[in-house]
Amino acid sequence: MRDLQSLQAEIAQLKEELSVTIVAHYYQKDEVFEIADITGDSLELAKRAKESESEWILFCGVGFMGQSVKILAPHKRVAMPKIACCAMARMIDSTYFDASVQYMVDHGIDKEEILPITYINSGAEVKAKVGQMGGSVCTSSSAVKIIEKALQSGKKILFVPDKCLGQNVARMMGLKSCVIGEGECDPKEADIICYNGFCSVHQLFELKDVEFFRKRYPGIKIAVHPECKPEVCEAADFVGSTSQIIRYVQSLDPEQKVAVGTEYNLVHRLRPKNTYVLSATKPECPTMNETSLEDVANTLKAIKEGAPLNEIFVDDETIKWARVALERMFEYLEG
Ligand code: 13P
Ligand code: SF4
Repeated sequence: MRDLQSLQAEIAQLKEELSVTIVAHYYQKDEVFEIADITGDSLELAKRAKESESEWILFCGVGFMGQSVKILAPHKRVAMPKIACCAMARMIDSTYFDASVQYMVDHGIDKEEILPITYINSGAEVKAKVGQMGGSVCTSSSAVKIIEKALQSGKKILFVPDKCLGQNVARMMGLKSCVIGEGECDPKEADIICYNGFCSVHQLFELKDVEFFRKRYPGIKIAVHPECKPEVCEAADFVGSTSQIIRYVQSLDPEQKVAVGTEYNLVHRLRPKNTYVLSATKPECPTMNETSLEDVANTLKAIKEGAPLNEIFVDDETIKWARVALERMFEYLEG
């Protein structure tokens, strides 16, 4: 195994020789995060990676993120040091998506009256289905705005796959939501009908953790990601995407204590003092943590040798419709 310094030197050398942009999500390990050209939340990464001028994008993140770049910029070549799949994105495929639409139809909603919104944490096939039905992608930072726009259509929103994000947005907007398969979910009675998916990492944060920190450090602020459970988000002082959490914590007085409910790698590099992980466990995303610096070096070497590893391919028809759903998000955000 090569040591960190020689890997960093090898990567710097390969970057000089190749037309490649290295992109990393905030949840990546420090060693990977530090060598990236572009870092950010899922919305920023999708936008900036498609705009980059290099031939290759080396995406350090989870599968749907690399796929989104390929969909938005099909002429680019995208490789991932590890094709690690987000556990939530795996909870839905096109068959389960169709079954959710059918659930609403069986409960008296015409298919034409359904507008699907998919969280960007989903596979290309699901995004394509959503695009075909006139719907849009959203990210954690854009969800409220996208749902506001979508509701102007007067249709019922089918929100996939994250039930927590769907319920949290509904609460923030004063709307009614229900979750298919959880208790009575009558699509006629709700504005947002959520699929039953979730993030296993963000499920680790509990209301009792919020209560514990509030009791232990009176006056502490609590900031959480909207993939956390609704009762946790309701009890927090701030709910936002990874970038929004970073900006919130940076805006606080350095003496202000804050406990943060999101992935460990992001929280531990947030601020040297007065910052806590809102959990007694270490909330690491196992798939985000699969990528190592050695994988990055190996993937760059493979590009140089003309035998790329883990290149992302999506078929043309899927790209066509998934792109419609992704571009609609950008249109909604600009409009
Ligand atoms: P962001 O949109 O905040 O980057 O979140 C992506 C994600 O996977 C969080 O678990
Ligand atoms: Fe997926 Fe959760 Fe990991 Fe985010 S933290 S990439 S939602 S498994």
